[in-house]
Amino acid sequence: MKELTQKTQVTLLEAMIDGSKVGTIVTDPSQKDNPIIYTNKTFIDMTGYTQQEVIGRNCRFLQGPDTAKEDIGKMKKAIANEEKIMLTLLNYRKDGSPFWNRLAIEPVRIEDKLYFIGTQTDITLERAQQQAIMANESEIEKLMLPILSVQENVATVALVGTMNFQRFETLKVKICEYVQEHRIEHAIIDITGLSWNEKSPLYWFTQIYDALRIMGSKLYVTGISPAAAQQFANDLERDSRLTTFSTIEKALNFITLQSGGKNISVD
Ligand SMILES: Cc1cc2nc3c(=O)[nH]c(=O)nc-3n(C[C@H](O)[C@H](O)[C@H](O)COP(=O)(O)O)c2cc1C
Repeated sequence: MKELTQKTQVTLLEAMIDGSKVGTIVTDPSQKDNPIIYTNKTFIDMTGYTQQEVIGRNCRFLQGPDTAKEDIGKMKKAIANEEKIMLTLLNYRKDGSPFWNRLAIEPVRIEDKLYFIGTQTDITLERAQQQAIMANESEIEKLMLPILSVQENVATVALVGTMNFQRFETLKVKICEYVQEHRIEHAIIDITGLSWNEKSPLYWFTQIYDALRIMGSKLYVTGISPAAAQQFANDLERDSRLTTFSTIEKALNFITLQSGGKNISVD
């Protein structure tokens, strides 16, 4: 196999580092205030500074009013001890806009000379998405009264407020987890206090129904208002898998009688 020349190797390596999604810098602690001696293109694009503006400076110029002092202290200590450190801190671009920087700093010795390599990833979007999910989950918690085991093998959950696609998705996961953990055979969802944005939530209930059926459990929907019943009736004609009752009590009676093996008529 033909060996690559050193020049080609360096050029290839540089192209790889510049093409990476991760910002990379190298600092020289033998110089006053540990300045940056190298940055890749990604670091330049991420921060908005030019190469000339950053070479020769300590990287703290990325910090601003809301950068946590504790994070700065941790970095100072790790660098002084020549230790590796990873953290996510708030930094600022040249135009003053903040971004969340997932940063790793690592000491490297080359021919007995110490350098530090820093890699930076802008995770602002990721963090915002994570926060949106968390906010949505706590919203669900508020909308969903706790899942209760009312009898052995039977659990109920009452839904209040407005449900939408995402909330139904979370509800499905939570019910499935609960049913599996508590070996529930019959799950009742009461929708007396529920309103919804989508045309009809029946689709979502049948999704939950299917998920539970795979686990060997049954789903019943109760608390259907006359208006909702009207809407449900049309859908149920097309899809009659769901068993519905006007009240939780009626569903419980049905389950008890069914467990006893008797035939009853559903209201
Ligand atoms: C290789 C390397 C990369 C660094 N990258 C960043 C960075 O991206 N953002 C930041 O706020 N600080 C970064 N720092 C930390 C600062 O340069 C500085 O060490 C830190 O603010 C603690 O020192 P000080 O208290 O003297 O400011 C980096 C440090 C090193 C050695």
